[in-house]
Amino acid sequence: MKTIIHRLFVTNYLLERSESNTNNNSLQVVHQALANGKTAKAVRASALAVGTALAIMTALIMTSCTPQKTEATTPALSKEALVARGAYLVTTSACHDCHSPKIMTPHGPIVDTTRMLSGHPANDPVPPVAKTDDWILFGNDFTTGAGPWGVSFAANLTPHETGTGNWSFEQFKTAIRKGKYKGLEGSRSLLPPMPWEMYRNFTDEDLLAIFTFLQSIKPIDNLVPQPIAPGDVVYASK
Ligand code: HEC
Repeated sequence: MKTIIHRLFVTNYLLERSESNTNNNSLQVVHQALANGKTAKAVRASALAVGTALAIMTALIMTSCTPQKTEATTPALSKEALVARGAYLVTTSACHDCHSPKIMTPHGPIVDTTRMLSGHPANDPVPPVAKTDDWILFGNDFTTGAGPWGVSFAANLTPHETGTGNWSFEQFKTAIRKGKYKGLEGSRSLLPPMPWEMYRNFTDEDLLAIFTFLQSIKPIDNLVPQPIAPGDVVYASK
């Protein structure tokens, strides 16, 4: 209905404009405009009639709807829709960058699709860390990060028991919103470079989509190592 009313406004506006063309000196344009003007009046009269009818209809519809108080609620997404949206959000929000093991190519690391989102591979050796106070470092597949916090390992997000298999959605929300390990209140804070301070801004629905997607992917057995505390980091000798 809005569209129709909007169209009526637009029609009126255009007609007024075509009428105002009568000020133009060109005879042809005046004739054209006069012709338009006539049609304009006819159209406007019928537009008014339709408009009044619509207004009455709107009033009737609104009166009949008032007792039920219709609130515009977004319908809950189906599981398929949540999975699709979650897949989209995980891809566009770069979760794979850190959480998926990679295959090295001449152009750099690419996601190993057979181990998607399974975190830092438990059996990968952790090379000695280059000593520097000026840089923060990533392992060559981005699943490890070293800095003043020591060394952290990207978590297994797949629905295996070594990942998020036993997690509830509440846990997932606590992990992302409050930066808590395993999404448990009272557990340690998540370390960098996990950007939970940014991801905490996801809406509940987005988080549900991401969680639903993660629960739908292939479970991968991979017990990611605990982080290495700053004092225990093995540094490469120069
Ligand atoms: C820049 C790297 C990076 C990106 C991008 C990233 N993460 Fe993380 N994430 C990590 C690291 C590293 C950890 C482990 C931190 C720790 O052990 O304290 C982690 C931990 C987590 C945890 C907690 C797991 C647990 O066992 O407690 C969840 C959940 C998580 N990430 C989800 C996501 C999701 C979802 C995305 C994308 C929307 C994402 N991460 C993007 C690096 C990243």
